[in-house]
Amino acid sequence: MRAALIGAVALVLTVAGPARAQSIGDADAGRAVFEANCAMCHGQDAAGMMGMHPSLRGAVERLSVEGVEVAIRNGRDTMPPMPAFEGRLTDKEISDVIAYLDALPVGSRNFGPGADGDMMDGMMEGRMWYWLAWTALLLVLVAVIVIGSIFTVRSLWNRSGSGSRKGEALDILKERFARGEIDRDEFEERRRLLDDQR
Ligand code: HEC
Repeated sequence: MRAALIGAVALVLTVAGPARAQSIGDADAGRAVFEANCAMCHGQDAAGMMGMHPSLRGAVERLSVEGVEVAIRNGRDTMPPMPAFEGRLTDKEISDVIAYLDALPVGSRNFGPGADGDMMDGMMEGRMWYWLAWTALLLVLVAVIVIGSIFTVRSLWNRSGSGSRKGEALDILKERFARGEIDRDEFEERRRLLDDQR
């Protein structure tokens, strides 16, 4: 059942494909019309001009023949504008140029809906990486500062702390010796022990 359906669709496509292209116009004549009227904006071979004028590769597929015809006849009030060719091109020239566009390989689009490297996307992506990089750098910097200051404070603390503690211990020892609580041997031994700890 499914195979039959796919077969039927394929048959319709193979029959309808070339039949449609022939019914639009003459692609060779259309090429001349395109080069005289459209190429200065849409680029050689309708490949588009970066950021300004869309590629017309695959435009017929995307917009349909009628959609492309409407665009050509009425133009578009965009910035930059797509001029209206109603009255400037004959009906035959319009159908010929559509046939030419339809015959072009779709290729890559560099601007407009469905473009490969859509410019805005590219810019947004570039921005994102930019901010990510800066955030990462900032985090690393903050980490370095925090860790650095912790070490500095700690080493200062240790130096002053242990120094005063040792001085204190020696004072206590001297005081006890002076009070006669410990004798000379004991005093000397304890002082040696304290010195060893340093
Ligand atoms: C002055 C420059 C200019 C010329 C000449 C010009 N166009 Fe355009 N065309 C544009 C611009 C700009 C757009 C994009 C409009 C938009 O953003 O919707 C456009 C859009 C189109 C589109 C719609 C594409 C899409 O993807 O939506 C078609 C089809 C088209 N042009 C066909 C033609 C044809 C065929 C000719 C020659 C007969 C032609 N244009 C001549 C500037 C031009």
